[in-house]
Amino acid sequence: MDEFQAANRRKWNELAEVHYTSANSAYGIDDFLNGPEGTRDLHKTELEELGSVEGLDILHLQCHFGMDTLLLARKGANSVTGLDFSPVAIAQARELAERAGIEASFIEGNVYDAPKLIQATYDLVYVTWGTICWLPDIDAWARVVAHFVKPGGRFYFLDQHPVVLSFDDYAPAPHAPVYDYFHKPEPLPFETSDSYADGSAVLQTKRSYEWTHPVGEVVTALIDAGLRLEYLHEFDTVAWKALAFMEPCEGGLYRLPEGMPRLPLSYSISARKPL
Ligand SMILES: C[S@@+](CC[C@H](N)C(=O)[O-])C[C@H]1O[C@@H](n2cnc3c(N)ncnc32)[C@H](O)[C@@H]1O
Repeated sequence: MDEFQAANRRKWNELAEVHYTSANSAYGIDDFLNGPEGTRDLHKTELEELGSVEGLDILHLQCHFGMDTLLLARKGANSVTGLDFSPVAIAQARELAERAGIEASFIEGNVYDAPKLIQATYDLVYVTWGTICWLPDIDAWARVVAHFVKPGGRFYFLDQHPVVLSFDDYAPAPHAPVYDYFHKPEPLPFETSDSYADGSAVLQTKRSYEWTHPVGEVVTALIDAGLRLEYLHEFDTVAWKALAFMEPCEGGLYRLPEGMPRLPLSYSISARKPL
């Protein structure tokens, strides 16, 4: 693992700690464990797009502490496996599965090492919300994804649109781009102490690094890795307050305030491996 990903892992260990234990965490562990069915669910976008996961063997890459992995299990998956490089998040995921009484397998490892760590292929490989901006090499990532999709199986991806990454998260509206839309090998360094899921958090681990991956490069990498695109959808909503002046809307999502030009804030891809 390079020094940038190692720094990100330190940050994710602390973020996982906050997200799992804080009473203010938007993850809502109590609702997930004790609320009536559906109190804590996936976001509106993936709920509308995913379709039935009944009976599927699912691999969830970059699963954090596995709440979405376990939500997929609750929706009737045959098996769920989550992978994340944060040892803190993986320990929490195993604990959360036990507390929820859900059978799931959680594996600690860098996504790029996943083919060495997991000896199986899946009906559905699932990657959502806050994932590829932490990864330096999108072609290698796409090869990992494709490796795990069974022939005839599906890859579902949903994440923030790279257009959002060209803005300063903290700048007040009106805003203008400050970062390149296009990929550069060297990452953008950030020094931040807040969390997207807990407004009261003040993190000790400030440094992190991100890479932008333009939509065209993501799509082309998946095609080059052997997947066939079913669709690419763009949305004017995203799953967290990615820019300071965004407003909450339905389904656990955020959008730009009324009257502002609509920009793509997230996008999804569904792709299949040919039989
Ligand atoms: C924003 S979270 C994903 C959240 C997930 N969608 C959810 O809703 O819980 C990003 C996750 O990616 C993981 N991650 C970042 N870089 C990684 C890498 N190179 N390999 C594996 N996991 C990584 C982090 O540890 C973190 O848990």
